[in-house]
Amino acid sequence: RPCRSDCQGGHTMTTLKSAEELQRLRESNRLVAEVMQNLLEMVEPSISTLDLDVEADRLIRERGAIPAFKGYRDYPNTICASVNEQVVHGIPSSRKLREGDLVSIDVGVRYRDFYGDMCRTVPVGKISASAERQIQTARICLSEACNRAVVGNRLGDICMTIEAIAHRNGYEVVRDYVGHGIGRRLHEDPQIPNFGIPRPNIRLRPGLVLAIEPMLNAGNWEVERLSDEWTVITKDRKLSVHFEDVVAVTEDGPEILTRVD
Ligand code: CO
Repeated sequence: RPCRSDCQGGHTMTTLKSAEELQRLRESNRLVAEVMQNLLEMVEPSISTLDLDVEADRLIRERGAIPAFKGYRDYPNTICASVNEQVVHGIPSSRKLREGDLVSIDVGVRYRDFYGDMCRTVPVGKISASAERQIQTARICLSEACNRAVVGNRLGDICMTIEAIAHRNGYEVVRDYVGHGIGRRLHEDPQIPNFGIPRPNIRLRPGLVLAIEPMLNAGNWEVERLSDEWTVITKDRKLSVHFEDVVAVTEDGPEILTRVD
């Protein structure tokens, strides 16, 4: 979520979802995962990020859902498409993807009053070994963070897992943007930084639904925003990758909702 330094308020209480609400969240997040699967299959050299955006809009509406980002604080498009040194919130354009690029595709939907939110970073054609390793590390950060979404753990266990794996592999984590609770609103409390937070912090309970979104930079963690008011890039122009899944804390362990099967 866009937050912290540039937060315009609108925070919500951390809500615990009922069984019915969790079922709705399963549907909205499965839906966004289906859309994502379709978009990822389209990624190849010479497609533009706007082509992906147009198709995302169609796929979402065809399923009876609504793009969640369009109009959110005046964001103009359905997806965020962030290429190479772009960190998050890249605005789709006629820019064509080229062999060797990395593109992160971030999609949000609202379906029957509940939100789904997901991001994947993928190679365009063949990419460098170091870029591959960065993507792989971010994937591991996300899956290990989701594994920590267990009753009795603290929120900080999720946050520090991401930071520790990133640092161990030589990456920095973005500090200006964070993950978030999700439900009837796209962004609910708690905020979920990608770095350790002071204790005490909240204990994880059944019914918490969290959008966890590691952002890993090859260089420094510092970022800046382009004059389009949205696109966030690394200050040192080195590569950044971003992944996001929605996970529910349940009595039976973490349940990743942004899944197709
Ligand atoms: Co999000």
